[in-house]
Amino acid sequence: MPCTVVTGGFWGDEGKGKIISYLALNDQLDVCVRTGSVNAAHTVWYQGRRYALHMVPAAFVHEKCRLLIGAGANVHIAQFLKEAEATNVKNRIGIDHQASIIEEKHSTQDKTRAHLKGIGTTGRGVGPAIEERVGRTAKLAKNIPELQPYLTDVAGEVNNAIDNGKKALLEGTQGFMLSLFHGTYPYVTGRDTSASAICSEAGVGPTKIDNVLVVFKAFMTRVGEGPLPGELTKEGALKRGWFEIAAGTGRERRSAPFNFELAKKTVMINGATQAAVTKLDILYPQCKGARNYDELPEEAKQFIKEIEKQVGIPVVLIGTGPEALDIVDRRK
Ligand code: IMP
Ligand code: MG
Repeated sequence: MPCTVVTGGFWGDEGKGKIISYLALNDQLDVCVRTGSVNAAHTVWYQGRRYALHMVPAAFVHEKCRLLIGAGANVHIAQFLKEAEATNVKNRIGIDHQASIIEEKHSTQDKTRAHLKGIGTTGRGVGPAIEERVGRTAKLAKNIPELQPYLTDVAGEVNNAIDNGKKALLEGTQGFMLSLFHGTYPYVTGRDTSASAICSEAGVGPTKIDNVLVVFKAFMTRVGEGPLPGELTKEGALKRGWFEIAAGTGRERRSAPFNFELAKKTVMINGATQAAVTKLDILYPQCKGARNYDELPEEAKQFIKEIEKQVGIPVVLIGTGPEALDIVDRRK
């Protein structure tokens, strides 16, 4: 897999952090480029520790992986420095010169503009920061003294790595249903979250991509406002064990059963070649910790087969617990 794009299948929080951390360790990734911004939190559990990452790529768990933040991303300086320290990656993380900067004033704008509050923004300021970039008045990483040691040409580095047969991964953030273009507008985020947009933010052309891996959770969740087909009540969610609290904002997530029609749309528009399904152990507790397909109960296998039949691509990775290595890998 010289270049894989990982994209979220629903409204974010599908477990991309977990899948990417597994791929980093198992496939020995050489380069990982994170896109998007601080509104997204990727949770990684590794060696008993939990990390909620807003800036550092989830592949940090593989110590030889070069970590990059693409030109299309928005960097929160304090958050970046704090996470780079906490994950001990200062010597192997780079930021593109042209990534833009998200500041306190953007967060204030998010929190005080009534229509943004109404769509349930995370309040991190990402939409207003992108507006400023579109207005061509944004600050860029290259203008910031504290970021000088990290500046690099991300597109140059990643294309060079791909051309030399190294393994690269482009880390999408949020979910496809939050795409500014294809999602449930106006209940969306401020950017396109599709695989094509992830490539664009990182600076990799579509002909260089071998694999588009879409990550679905075994049930759907959503934070903030906007439609969620089949939505359960909080009681119903609690009863099924689907009730979650957001890693990034502490908000309660709404939940609903897996929706095949939405999954098909995601697979089509992202040009997905492979799928991952996370949290299968929440639907079928007997799956917990399984690392072999044969260990899964028949019902769980049927669910996976149904997804494959309906969306038309193979489910190659199945999450069976929170740790990076709690996974059934069917690529082997
Ligand atoms: P904003 O991008 O922070 O303005 O939020 C817009 C909408 O997208 C809100 O409904 C948020 O809850 C949702 N959203 C933004 N980022 C994420 C994410 O990483 N995971 C889940 N939902 C998100
Ligand atoms: Mg998240």
